[in-house]
Amino acid sequence: MPARLEIEGGIPLRGTVKVSAAKNAALPALAAALLTAEPLVFPNLPDLQDVRTMIRLLQTLGATIDRNDARASVRVARVLKDEAAYELVSTMRASVLVLGPLVARHGSARVALPGGCAIGVRPIDQHLKGLAKLGAEIAIENGYVVARASRLRGASITLDMVTVTGTENLMMAATLAQGTTVIENAAREPEVSDLAACLNAMGGRIDGAGTSRIEIEGVPTLAGATHRIVPDRIEAGTLIVAGAITRGDVTVSDLVPDHLGAVLAKLEECGVGIEVGSTWVRVRGPERPRPTDVVTSPFPGFATDMQAQLMTLLGLADGQSRVTETIFENRFMHAAELVRLGARIETEGSTATIRGVRHYQGAQVMASDLRASAALVLAGLAARGRTEVARVYHLDRGYERMETKLANLGARIERRT
Ligand code: EPU
Repeated sequence: MPARLEIEGGIPLRGTVKVSAAKNAALPALAAALLTAEPLVFPNLPDLQDVRTMIRLLQTLGATIDRNDARASVRVARVLKDEAAYELVSTMRASVLVLGPLVARHGSARVALPGGCAIGVRPIDQHLKGLAKLGAEIAIENGYVVARASRLRGASITLDMVTVTGTENLMMAATLAQGTTVIENAAREPEVSDLAACLNAMGGRIDGAGTSRIEIEGVPTLAGATHRIVPDRIEAGTLIVAGAITRGDVTVSDLVPDHLGAVLAKLEECGVGIEVGSTWVRVRGPERPRPTDVVTSPFPGFATDMQAQLMTLLGLADGQSRVTETIFENRFMHAAELVRLGARIETEGSTATIRGVRHYQGAQVMASDLRASAALVLAGLAARGRTEVARVYHLDRGYERMETKLANLGARIERRT
């Protein structure tokens, strides 16, 4: 039976908790190891299921990995295979991040098309369009993207929509292209800037990451480097909401406050006490949150990856809130589960209307994706009585030792297998 979490709710969390390195920065940084024959070293690789999956994928392509606790060294002396098989890509869409590096270094790639997932259709047309602009020949054969190029050439690429992994894939491909590439309408997420920092440490020449115009001057080869991965702003935001929703007093440390601007602003609107330090945030939960409206958008807007967690807090607010999801078309799966805990939520298209209740009541619920499972854990922490969150493997994909961190803050939470 897959593992589940049992939570006795209603305990205000107290203390200090450290944020781990970001999943969504670690995955592209690992893929970047394909761009050089020398070792790429990460002093703080998070221990997550998705990271393990990416490592497995890199190993099938020829990587050797040396891991010692959080320190990991990844070396792809030679690319031995250019295929990302469906078994792996279908368990983790971010596998598609090997496409750009493989074509750039090896001249060819076969990557399974990811297909839809629990939160939406999620096509990769922008990745492919950009690679074609860089001179790759692209074909779809038997469910696989097949890309070939002897040497990529710099180009001007305007993305039709803001895509995080799309920007990352193209940025990695362009580092080894001949000439200069400009990506317009690039994603500005901190994870994109972190990847650019990693690539620049390897000898890349990338300018403008963190803005919507990224310029990449291609270089013939990249070298090994040591890169410290940026803190996980979504884990940080989730822990901050844990403090708020339990009426606790929690300091979340080892984070970058600037990466949390939109989340902290919303929480303050809800009456959550927020104190911001240089690398920490102290949160004090209100007796009852105030309602608010939120619309998800690309960074620096309110992240879709924090939408489920905020909705959980708003479920307890003193009045009516509205949450509008603009990034993914099916990212309200947590709403029906929150209703099992007593929430009053109605969804219509991309908008959820939430009428706050005073308390959640413990119940059995089921996680459907990573952030939905985080939301259910948060609800369980606040609920009266016992909550059981099934399918916790979703949580393990992207949160490092979540239940241990919460237990250290006083939560009564246990993993059962
Ligand atoms: N899109 C297209 N065509 C493309 C690419 C994207 O239509 O070629 C659409 C998507 O379908 C979606 C929107 O554009 O509607 C944005 O998608 P994006 O490409 O930015 O998402 P992603 O790169 O696949 C990353 C994170 C997600 C996070 C989103 C949005 C990683 C590994 N994943 O996904 O993280 O939700 O950006 O910020 O970085 C999570 O961690 O739980 C998670 C889902």
